[in-house]
Amino acid sequence: MDRRQALRQSALAVAAFAFSRDVFAHDAERIMKTYSGLPADFIKLSSNENPHGPSPAARKAMMDAVNSSNRYPWEITTQLREKIGSLYGLTKEHVVMGAGSSELLGLVSVMAALQKGNAVAPDPTFRLWMPAARKFGLPIKLVPLTEGKVTDLQRMKDSMDANTKMVYICNPGNPTGTIIPAGELESFIKEIAPKCIVLLDEAYTEFSDEPSMAKWVNDYPNLVVAKTFSKIYGMAGARAGFVLAHPQTIRQLNDLQPWSNAGTSAVSLAGALASLQDTEFVNYCKKENQKARSIFYTALEKAGMPYVPSYTSFVYFDAAPFNKDVTQLLESRQIIGARTFETGSKWLRLSVGTVAEMQKVAEVLKA
Ligand SMILES: Cc1ncc(COP(=O)(O)O)c(C=O)c1O
Repeated sequence: MDRRQALRQSALAVAAFAFSRDVFAHDAERIMKTYSGLPADFIKLSSNENPHGPSPAARKAMMDAVNSSNRYPWEITTQLREKIGSLYGLTKEHVVMGAGSSELLGLVSVMAALQKGNAVAPDPTFRLWMPAARKFGLPIKLVPLTEGKVTDLQRMKDSMDANTKMVYICNPGNPTGTIIPAGELESFIKEIAPKCIVLLDEAYTEFSDEPSMAKWVNDYPNLVVAKTFSKIYGMAGARAGFVLAHPQTIRQLNDLQPWSNAGTSAVSLAGALASLQDTEFVNYCKKENQKARSIFYTALEKAGMPYVPSYTSFVYFDAAPFNKDVTQLLESRQIIGARTFETGSKWLRLSVGTVAEMQKVAEVLKA
């Protein structure tokens, strides 16, 4: 496929997306249609992937693991769960592995659906798990963010009723990158987790200096913290994620997995274990993300586009004051991924790439 065909395909997919009934329900399918098969020199800033990963140690571990992938990976699954548990002051009994955290977000929402009630979630937020949850019989009440694009905890509480079985919170938030201050989140967990499942999605915590709330799982069996190897560890394609929760809750989740902890491949598990040990690489990614993010901030300021400071690997900004269509302009220069998450709004999310990639974004916005 040449560049023009790739762009035409991308434009068609975006147009089809705009007319779809639920702009979010088919997100995964749309992303695949839009971005698969693009030439390698396209800059992909659509899905908050880590442009640096996997770490050198993870690459080596994965290549070595190919040789032993004729065997089921019980030993390494256990080692990884032990390692993850120890990093959070917990044990392997507090950990369940999945093929990416989205599998586990789905599993937790099925657990909530089985209780026959509703769920509450912010809007906009990470919605990939929602269509399946609804099909399992879990209606979801969506709660607008605050003016500052932060999850509105008070409104979330106000939206709960006697039938609310789960509250989903993504912190830092996707697509906005904003954070709920740790103290406020802790108070929310202490108040709400005695009543229903609190599913806390911490996919991006490592990009900030904010603490994980996993330290509360022993006190609150309803607290479920989802984390992933897809972001700071740069292993989105390897599909490895995990959930931290009270052992009693982990056992309930295991019961919903046809074969518990067996969804992650031997190769991905080896990469994940090596990644956790490669702290130098994680620090490097965090610093590079900060540098690249500030380049983008400066470009947005120069272009007169307001943004909310981000604690993640993407930035949410208001393209309304810009005199051109930002998505089209970037696409015309092979930079793919600026998109909206709010119907009728010009706020866009763009992932943060490498320093060089964000310099290219800055040049395009200047021109
Ligand atoms: C907030 C959030 N949670 C979960 C995920 C899913 O990650 P995984 O690749 O582990 O399924 C993503 C991916 O973009 C995300 O943004």
